[in-house]
Amino acid sequence: MPDKDVLAGTALDDDIAVEPKLRPQWLAEYIGQKKVRDNLAVFLQAAKGRGDPLDHVLLTGPPGLGKTTLAHIVAREMGAGLRVTSGPMITRAGDLAGILTNLQAKDVLFVDEIHRLNPAVEEILYPAMEDFRLDILIGEGPMARTMKIDLPAFTLIGATTRPGLLSQPLHARFGIALRLDFYDAASLALIIDRSSRILGIRISDEAAREIAGRSRGTPRIANRLLRRLRDFAEVGGKSSIDLDTARQALARLEVDEHGFDEVDRRILSTIIEKFAGGPVGIGSIAASIGEDRGTLEDLYEPYLIQAGFLQRTPRGRVASASAYRHLGITPPLRDGSLF
Ligand SMILES: Nc1ncnc2c1ncn2[C@@H]1O[C@H](COP(=O)(O)OP(=O)(O)OP(=O)(O)O)[C@@H](O)[C@H]1O
Ligand SMILES: [Mg+2]
Repeated sequence: MPDKDVLAGTALDDDIAVEPKLRPQWLAEYIGQKKVRDNLAVFLQAAKGRGDPLDHVLLTGPPGLGKTTLAHIVAREMGAGLRVTSGPMITRAGDLAGILTNLQAKDVLFVDEIHRLNPAVEEILYPAMEDFRLDILIGEGPMARTMKIDLPAFTLIGATTRPGLLSQPLHARFGIALRLDFYDAASLALIIDRSSRILGIRISDEAAREIAGRSRGTPRIANRLLRRLRDFAEVGGKSSIDLDTARQALARLEVDEHGFDEVDRRILSTIIEKFAGGPVGIGSIAASIGEDRGTLEDLYEPYLIQAGFLQRTPRGRVASASAYRHLGITPPLRDGSLF
């Protein structure tokens, strides 16, 4: 039975249980994302050398690429404590004030989904980030006054899948901004190999590469497919996952050669069949396939674009020649340089 969520970038219940075990603990174990890793290594070394906390870090990128993992790594590398919370969890300014006043010097405060902080809470964060100071308004009307409380020097790490929704003043207060990109297949194969050793799953190199190519550039999906394929191998009486088992199981899970699911295919076929290949606005695509526009923009489009199936132009989305071929349709000849 196909599992419609098997290619979801967001965490499923069974991911949440296993992920802490699979998370690299140190920067040197973090696979791929070379630019991010190299830069972060420099910033960490410099901060440690000066005895300062690391500058505030903003981590952006699609779900499942390793933002939370990096936040844990930073705290460990700094030898600092880690406090984890998220934008929607901090509902009142007082909640944040409580968290901040309980931090120790150099602690890392990780705020996941930071684009969902409510504006009143965000106001508290500005002086806290800038001057390690809390400005609290006491009383109301003419009697109101602000009380200033010094905070320990700390590092805020914010993570978001939607950097576009972050307010400008908040964005500007991060000294370090790191953007995670989809992983190449070679890095994903290394991640699968590492995870298989941790989980005690035997898998051939070819099978690992096969999974890697179909994981939408996302470690979380690669790890999930590895676990699903172990089930197929076990039920099939195999002691390890070989290429044959991998291909058969992936076919049964309806994971195609690019890791596209039903929605990806509908996006591409809609653009091609209903909108003559584009350009067409994302709103029209969403309405046409009955999906939420934000879901398409956040979860589907980034991978389709990076894999070269979709182009974003000022006039709308355009299907590329590979998209036509993927659907078994001959790409039309066009003027312009698209094909
Ligand atoms: N560079 C990496 N090397 C090895 N494993 C990784 C790497 N990045 C991520 N992973 C694996 O992928 C899983 C998901 O990563 P993580 O939870 O950090 O993603 P995320 O970006 O925080 O996702 P979300 O946006 O859903 O919060 C981790 O548990 C880890 O096992
Ligand atoms: Mg996360």
